[in-house]
Amino acid sequence: MTMTESLTSDSPFARRRRHLFDWMRSQGGGVAVLSTAPERSRNRDNQYAYRHDSDFFYLTGFVEPGAWLILVAGEQDRAILCCLGKHPEREIWDGVRWGPEAAGEHFGFDEARDSERLDDLMPELLVGAERIFAVLTGTQGADLPQRLQRWTQAAAGVSRGARALPAHWTDLSDVIAEMRLIKDATELDTMRRAAAISARGHVRAMQAAYPGCHEYELEAELLYTFRKSGAQSVAYDSIVAAGANACVLHHRAGHAVAHDGDLILIDAGCELDGYASDITRTFPVNGRFSGPQRALYDVVLEAQRAAALHATRAFDFNAGHEAAVRVLAQGMIDLGLIAGSLDAAIEGGAYQRFYMHRTGHWLGMDVHDVGTYREPAANPGQRPWRKLAPGMVLTIEPGIYVRPSDDVPEKFWNIGIRIEDDAIVTDEGPEIMTRGVPVEPQAIEALMRERAC
Ligand code: GLY
Ligand code: MN
Ligand code: MN
Repeated sequence: MTMTESLTSDSPFARRRRHLFDWMRSQGGGVAVLSTAPERSRNRDNQYAYRHDSDFFYLTGFVEPGAWLILVAGEQDRAILCCLGKHPEREIWDGVRWGPEAAGEHFGFDEARDSERLDDLMPELLVGAERIFAVLTGTQGADLPQRLQRWTQAAAGVSRGARALPAHWTDLSDVIAEMRLIKDATELDTMRRAAAISARGHVRAMQAAYPGCHEYELEAELLYTFRKSGAQSVAYDSIVAAGANACVLHHRAGHAVAHDGDLILIDAGCELDGYASDITRTFPVNGRFSGPQRALYDVVLEAQRAAALHATRAFDFNAGHEAAVRVLAQGMIDLGLIAGSLDAAIEGGAYQRFYMHRTGHWLGMDVHDVGTYREPAANPGQRPWRKLAPGMVLTIEPGIYVRPSDDVPEKFWNIGIRIEDDAIVTDEGPEIMTRGVPVEPQAIEALMRERAC
């Protein structure tokens, strides 16, 4: 679907709003209000590139700033979009706005208003409402609580009685997060396309690498591919880490040089039509893994295979991590990084010195997407790990990071390796979306032999 087609009542956005209306009714009904993200100043009159709020986009498909969604769940549901009004002068500078009239029709809302009317509209809608629903976390306007207070006070004025004040406030974050956790066919299609673009970016960066190259040069290759392929943005700042920098987990691409014999770790993904991808590859800048690099790489790759076998509906979210940890810890013992038995290394946590993060996270509109990792219905405190279900999307990203230390074999010093792919949980097993860039060491070396230089 493209945004040039009008959205009908069958659109995913309208379906999601219907689901939310039903849920609101199950809670007694009322009025829900969500804002999109605020614009952010970079310096003086210069703004950061605008990015909508993910929950807001999920329910509207609308990406302009200054917009609000209001859902009135009553005898007759009303979905109301408030957006910036047409403004010929501003549009010369900032670009064309939909304006409420065209937006309401195109995006399939029951009603649409100018956002400037919001402070008049909300008190009217809140008169007699039992409950207000709102997202009070995330990127939504930080002034929402104050606005809600103003609106409820104004609603009391409208009705001239205390009865006008909604009796209950309900946060919508959890219910929307539950919806977002299971991706529908439209979302999965977008995520596959985002994954394919990111994989192409990684291939291009690998082939552009040469001994003496700077991290920023490879970042440029990634960004070129993402934008050239139509992705609007990166999903997060690209990590391009030469040599020892790979042991800094979130090292941003900088000015460091990759020297002959170094590995380069790239963790980068584009955002396409609001959806993230998240890939990590680690490769030798000179095109050949050294013996110690290859030994560690093989352990991480085997750990990733083990984790992937558990990215299917029969398992819970933590099973993949446990499987990866077993392989990584055994590899560390075999290579002399840690001593003792496998069980002791796992129970005592000795492996965490070289593997200090988890093996994956949910992926969706946000790179670390919403959704609990524990079953939501169970008692707090004893909540089991979440069972995987078709339509969930997660990353699988084990790693090993070895900092210099006298009690560690020197041949492994400063090697940092992570391998990260994005997978859809299906009935049959994971659909790994990101293998447009190879992961097998021989395939990476072959790709690098094809370099033009
Ligand atoms: N790029 C951040 C992560 O892999 O989670
Ligand atoms: Mn990543
Ligand atoms: Mn990740």
